[in-house]
Amino acid sequence: MRLAVVPGDGIGPEVVNEALKVLSEVAPQIEPTQYDLGAARWHSTGELLPESVLTELREHDAILLGAVGDPSVPSGILERGLLLRLRFELDHHVNLRPARLYPGVRGPLSAQPEVDLVVVREGTEGPYAGTGGLLRKDTPQEIATEVSVNTAFGVERVVRDAFARASNRPRRHLTLVHKTNVLTHAGSLWSRVVEEVSLEHPEVAVDYQHVDSTTIHLVTDPSRYDVIVTDNLFGDILTDLAAAVTGGIGLAASGNLDVSRANPSMFEPVHGSAPDIAGKGIADPTAAVLSVALLLDHLGEPELARRVEAAVAFDLATRDHQNPGGTSAVGDRLAALVSSAAGTRTSA
Ligand code: NAD
Ligand code: IPM
Ligand code: MN
Repeated sequence: MRLAVVPGDGIGPEVVNEALKVLSEVAPQIEPTQYDLGAARWHSTGELLPESVLTELREHDAILLGAVGDPSVPSGILERGLLLRLRFELDHHVNLRPARLYPGVRGPLSAQPEVDLVVVREGTEGPYAGTGGLLRKDTPQEIATEVSVNTAFGVERVVRDAFARASNRPRRHLTLVHKTNVLTHAGSLWSRVVEEVSLEHPEVAVDYQHVDSTTIHLVTDPSRYDVIVTDNLFGDILTDLAAAVTGGIGLAASGNLDVSRANPSMFEPVHGSAPDIAGKGIADPTAAVLSVALLLDHLGEPELARRVEAAVAFDLATRDHQNPGGTSAVGDRLAALVSSAAGTRTSA
């Protein structure tokens, strides 16, 4: 199996390095090929994602990405020209973002509730579509529009995926999160699609919540959620919040999936390039390692995925959370654990 690796910017290469340590331990048959895309390449050549590279990436079974974005590059150039371009070109319509509070991890709440939810974030539409523009730029009458694009096709396929996931989870619960009280056009489409697809899934209990109140309940009562399905922007915001509630952004993994499998799916931590800690060797690589678990699941290697998760679970249950060790120390521990009995035992 062929894996394309895009380490990217800031802490991206630091955490990807550790994720690859773990991957080579657990699945030495997977061959990684590195692609140097990101701020450095843009500065030296002006390139973001050359067509030839995109063509090569398409020939891989999956992609592992670190993070993109750098303070030396104007905001949006790398994010849109590289990361979102990959998600759009490769039709990553399901952006899967689990959030689980692992034993031993303290969330910010005084009580430690059980949290095991997954956000199914739409990945190719919504306000990310790039439709809109600036009129009368640099005049006092300037107008900026950013149009949220929601197609019946796009909404239906992500809603179907979310129902299928909910159906396969013990609690069989799905919450549509939107802002139907204000975004009445898109809200109407999302609500109708959820209602229609729910008829095919009588086993799944469905409810609806406005996105603003979801931010309250994610903090005060996160246990109530099982599967959340939502649009691209709401999903972006809610998953940083869900990460904070389940031990921090350093633990949050994601998969950008083309469920049809026509294109390689891409796995990456939810976090960004973290310029504030880049180069210090202190970024937590756990999110990148858990992204490898999602990748292994996607490649049809659930046992290997469970081994990686078990290693993370063991490490989180036993690590000194005040002083977890640096990026490579955590990676070394996890790499040792995936091949040891301790890592395997916790999966039982
Ligand atoms: P960020 O996620 O990079 O950082 C937010 C905060 O979390 C920072 O304080 C950072 O130090 C901390 N943090 C992030 N990852 C961590 C880790 N593994 N361990 C410990 N602490 C960690 O978000 P930001 O600061 O808003 O964005 C920085 C840059 O990253 C921007 O250019 C942004 O566009 C980009 N970005 C990229 C992605 C991506 O590539 N998927 C995601 C988010 C942001
Ligand atoms: C994420 C990031 C990206 C997003 C940015 C960098 C384009 O915040 O992966 O969560 O908004 O999707
Ligand atoms: Mn984000």
